[in-house]
Formats: sequence, structure tokens, C-alpha cells
Amino acid sequence: MPIVTFTADDGTDREVDVPDGDSLMETAVRQGVPGIVGECGGALACATCHVFVVDADPADLPAMDEMEDEMLWGTAVDRRDESRLSCQLRPRRPMHVRTPETQQ
Ligand code: FES
Repeated sequence: MPIVTFTADDGTDREVDVPDGDSLMETAVRQGVPGIVGECGGALACATCHVFVVDADPADLPAMDEMEDEMLWGTAVDRRDESRLSCQLRPRRPMHVRTPETQQ
């Protein structure tokens, strides 16, 4: 299980083990990681799972499809080049992401 580090907007780090095959959002919600809401359960309908990728193996960053790209224009905190929706990421290696100040 890869360890993923979530850095909150205030700089606090939280490390979680992501079970194989689970999305970053699912794991974060299950383990109560602050800053990840995941309101739609991963259906690409809410954008409340927005993260900024700090460091990741490129193999764990699938190409962004049109739907994710569109949803990222509706995030509570403006998207950046490193923005992704964590419900679309299923890491197999260690990853580091930052959560935005707010999701709503
Ligand atoms: S959980 Fe809703 S878009 Fe990711």
C-alpha cells in the first residue's frame, strides 16, 4: 500500500496508507483527512475532492479526461497547473498532495 502525504493549507501533514485500487478521495474520506469532502462519491459531479499534486510518479497520474478538466473549472479554490480531482487518482507509489483552503 502506498503512503500518501496530504499537506493541509495550514502546513499540517497527514500520512495515510492507500489500499490497492482505492482512490485517493475514498481513502481520505474514510480516514477523515481534513480538506477532502468527496460529496458525489467519485462520480465527477462535485469537485470537492480537489488537490494540488506536489510529487507523484507520472505513472500514477492518468491523463486528465474532458470531464475532470471541466469539473476543475468549478472548484472552490482556483485550479492550478498541478490540480487534480483525487477521486480520479489511484496511487500505486508514494504520492504527496496539498489540499486547498476550502472545498465549498
Ligand atoms: S468526489 Fe466528486 S468529483 Fe471527485
